[in-house]
Amino acid sequence: MCGIVGYVGDSKSIEVLLGGLRRQEYRGYDSAGIAVIDVDGHLDSRKKAGKLQALVDELESNPIADGATGIGHTRWATHGGPTDRNAHPQLGDNGKLALIHNGIIENFFELKEELLAEGAVFTSDTDSEVAALLVGKAYQETKDVTEALRQVVARLHGAFTLLVVHEDQPGVVVGARRNSPLVIGLGDGENFLGSDVAAFVEHTRRAVEIGQDQIATIRTDSVSVTDFDGNPVETKEYEINWDASAAEKGGWSSFMAKEISEEPEAVAKTLLGRVVAESVRLPELDGIGDEILENIDRIVIIACGTAAYAGMLGKYAIEKWSRIPVDVELSHEFRYRDPILTERTLVVSISQSGETMDTLMAVKYAKEAGAQVLSICNTQGSSIPRESHAVLYTHAGPEVAVASTKAFLAQVTALYLLGLHLGRVRSTINPDEIAAAAAELNDIPEKIAEVLLSAASIKQLAHWMTDTKSVLFLGRNVGFPVALEGALKLKELAYIHAEGFAAGELKHGPIALIEPGQIVFVIVPSPRDPLSLHPKVVSNIQEIRARGARVIAIAEKGDAAVLPFADEVIPIPLAGSLFEPLLAVVPLHIFAMELSAAKGLDVDQPRNLAKSVTVE
Ligand code: F6R
Repeated sequence: MCGIVGYVGDSKSIEVLLGGLRRQEYRGYDSAGIAVIDVDGHLDSRKKAGKLQALVDELESNPIADGATGIGHTRWATHGGPTDRNAHPQLGDNGKLALIHNGIIENFFELKEELLAEGAVFTSDTDSEVAALLVGKAYQETKDVTEALRQVVARLHGAFTLLVVHEDQPGVVVGARRNSPLVIGLGDGENFLGSDVAAFVEHTRRAVEIGQDQIATIRTDSVSVTDFDGNPVETKEYEINWDASAAEKGGWSSFMAKEISEEPEAVAKTLLGRVVAESVRLPELDGIGDEILENIDRIVIIACGTAAYAGMLGKYAIEKWSRIPVDVELSHEFRYRDPILTERTLVVSISQSGETMDTLMAVKYAKEAGAQVLSICNTQGSSIPRESHAVLYTHAGPEVAVASTKAFLAQVTALYLLGLHLGRVRSTINPDEIAAAAAELNDIPEKIAEVLLSAASIKQLAHWMTDTKSVLFLGRNVGFPVALEGALKLKELAYIHAEGFAAGELKHGPIALIEPGQIVFVIVPSPRDPLSLHPKVVSNIQEIRARGARVIAIAEKGDAAVLPFADEVIPIPLAGSLFEPLLAVVPLHIFAMELSAAKGLDVDQPRNLAKSVTVE
């Protein structure tokens, strides 16, 4: 939540800052602002409530002089509503210092009382202004931004990334981080800071990780990083493995449309190099070691939202192939109930961003409790992998639309690979079964591409439903997490009440919701399903049809048994039961996106949300 960018280079700060904010707007879009130190050494700032465009318009009507040093912020509001005055930067030292903040300063109230007692005047309702005034005060004594920030972070509780510039020190941007993301971009005669690499990937693909409780000072020709006590720390440079064009819309109507079109590629890239000679190899797990993997007696998957639904699918596959019991828990619930963890527990965290605070905290907790931690993550150099014993990167490419689509498919793919890897290491699955499952996975990208061909008819369906007030989703077994994912996407994108249910649970209560005209999506298992769930789901369809529901079935191509009972059928290619979710979810992603677009909503930036949830 909140996107941050900092720049020192030549006199084009405004362009760099606005570009960095545009690429990070998915992190928050309640307000945006920039501060620049111009060539005469004067600090000026502009900020505006609303999306980035409001700031761009403001800068056009009320321009500021450009300069070589600047910071920019796009906000997801926590303390204080989304107004101009609460937008960042917040100023200190009589307007000579500007500060931007991502996170929450938990002890801001005490600090504010202290400042008020000293006569400080506040111009916003934010916790961030407390930090700006404190750093300003410290600067008056230290005359050094890095030192001033170091003194202040020692007093702050909570999670924060802070970036500061002061007009008396042009050519310097200082950033500090605790439990919120910050990364350095290394340029040629210019350097950058960003919440993620999207902030500067347009200018450089060389990045440097900043660890917890560290302070980075960037100048045009140098970068230095210390811990909060001022001791120099060693940093690790890495190359960003995607270029700026990957984070552009490239002619699509929205990032989400583009990202759904990339779902086949997201699965293919996640498989790449991991299915070798009809078997599965995950060298990334070497950090944990086969001996430990052979001895683990329980797996706990922790994640939030869509990533947790991927985790639910992972449970089916991992238990089947490795015979290790798997629990799936929401990260924020997991850590506060004193969970039982031993050195034989493998905790698997799943996160697209690698920055979700709830998951990050749960990972730290699990590690401290002695469990082995493996993270499945899509974002190189992010916080969660750094806190884990091993990381299995998904290679879905940058996901910009706030609601996750292609990353979900990549996460499920990674979990299935993990299940096969564990099954091989523990000899709970024979090589033929591994080869068959690996072949199924290898075929998935092409089959998803086939599902994408039905996009036009799904769009039509969505256009008929713009007045719909409520939609239910039903699935059994692996169809259940798909139903949950379909409902979540519809809620967040189209603002329609939607619920996902296990089809077998229907008669235990939810069937009371069915009234004439109620739209129900049903994920129908294959008639070839070895568990014989197909007739049961067809019976469920009949039960709701008898009560007036309108049924849209997602069913295997050629499934004649479902046709007489469904109002609409969206066909998907044939696949083994465990693999069907990777196909069945695709029409649901398209449907939610199209319904949102048909209602004239912002598909990429739904209201009240942000992509990286970096506050608890
Ligand atoms: C829903 C969605 C969210 C995320 C969740 C976890 O479409 O995108 O539910 O899945 O916030 O985010 P990550 O995967 O970044 O930890």
